[in-house]
Amino acid sequence: MTIPPAALQTAAERFGTPLYVYDAAELDAALLRVRAAFGAARVYYAMKANPNLTLLRRLHAAGVGFECVSPGELARAEVVGASGAQILVNGPAKSDAEYAAGARLGATFIVDREEEVALLPPQSQALVRVNPALAVSTHDHLATGAAGSKFGITLQQAPRVLEALRAAGHTALGLHVHIGSAIRDAHDFTAAFGRLSELREETGPLAVLDAGGGWGLDADLHGIAREAWAAATAFGAELWVEPGRYLVARAGTLLTRVVGTKRTGRNFCLVDAGMTELLRPMLYGAAHPVTPLWDGPETADWDIAGPACESGDLLARDISLPQPRRGELLAIGEAGAYGAAMSSTYLTRSRPAEALYEPGRHSGADWTPIRRRETPQDVWAAEI
Ligand SMILES: Cc1ncc(COP(=O)(O)O)c(C=O)c1O
Repeated sequence: MTIPPAALQTAAERFGTPLYVYDAAELDAALLRVRAAFGAARVYYAMKANPNLTLLRRLHAAGVGFECVSPGELARAEVVGASGAQILVNGPAKSDAEYAAGARLGATFIVDREEEVALLPPQSQALVRVNPALAVSTHDHLATGAAGSKFGITLQQAPRVLEALRAAGHTALGLHVHIGSAIRDAHDFTAAFGRLSELREETGPLAVLDAGGGWGLDADLHGIAREAWAAATAFGAELWVEPGRYLVARAGTLLTRVVGTKRTGRNFCLVDAGMTELLRPMLYGAAHPVTPLWDGPETADWDIAGPACESGDLLARDISLPQPRRGELLAIGEAGAYGAAMSSTYLTRSRPAEALYEPGRHSGADWTPIRRRETPQDVWAAEI
C-alpha cells in the first residue's frame, strides 16, 4: 500500500466508510510500466475494470483509448471526450444501441461471431476476435479463451470472417484475442499468440493485432510484450493491447471499519463493507491483501465478514490481526479493479464514495472526492 496510514485515517473521517480510495501516483506508474514494456503499442483501457469518470479523464489525457462493452460504457467514453480510433466496441451480444453509438462515434468493432458481419453499420472498421481454445491459469469464470466458452470465433473460421467483412464493404483491420483475466502463467499468452500466428498463411498481412489484456499484477509484462510483438510482427501488424485490471487494481484500496467481533468456532471480524462493495472474493474466490490500521499483538486468524445476510459474504479468510476493536480501520488492497465497478445496491445499500489521493495537488489538500456516497433515495430514484 502506498498511501500513508494517517492519510487513510483522514480520508475515512472525511468521506465515511466503506470508501474506495485511489493513489494517483500508482495509477500513473502502472501506465508507465505498460508503456515501458509494450513500447509503441496502442493502449485501450478496458473500462469495465473501473469506469469512474475521473480515472477515465486521466487516462484519456494520457493518450489511452477505451474498450467498451455496453451502451453505458460508450456513453462514458464520449463524455470524457474520446472518439473515433480511441474507442473499441466489444462484447458477445451487442445491442442495436451499441452498433448505432459505435457508428456515430466512429469506433472500431470487435466481431465476436460470424452473424455480426451482417449486423455491423455500413463501412465499419472491425477486428475479428479469435478464441484460441486454450485452458488458462485462472478461475473458470475469468477464462474467456477456452474451447466451449461463449467468446470469439474459432481459429478455423477466422480467415473466412475476415473475408466476409471485406466482401460486405467493411475494413477488416485484423485479429483480436483475449484469453481471460488475472492470468497467473505468462506461458498462457505465449500459447494464445502462437495459435493466432498459425493463421498467418491463410490471412496474409494484417494492419492490427489486438492482444487483449488479462495480465496478472505480478506478470512479466516485458515477456508478454515480447510474445505479443512477435505475433504482430509476423502479420506485419501494429500491436494494440487492452489492459483493465493491471492499470487500476494496485491503485485502489477499500477502507472499511470494524463493527465488532463474533466467535462461533470461527473468529469473525465484522466490518461495514461486504459483497455489495467488493464482490470478487465471493465471485472468484479472489484473495485481497488486508492491512489493519491499528497496532497490537496478533491474536488469532480472523474471517473478515460483511453485513449482508448471506453466508458467503466474506471479504477474506484466516487473516492474522491484532484484536479488532469497533471503529478501527481495515484496508483491503488491490481493490481498484472490479471493486467499485461491481459494487451493487443489493439490500438497498448505498454504493460507497470514492476519493483520489494526490498529495499537494489542490492547494495542500491531499484528497479529491471523485464519487459521492449514494443515498437511499439515489438507490430507488428510478422506481415508480
Ligand atoms: C475483451 C477484453 N479485453 C480486456 C479485458 C481486461 O481484462 P483485465 O482487466 O484482466 O486486464 C477484458 C476483461 O475481461 C476483456 O473481456
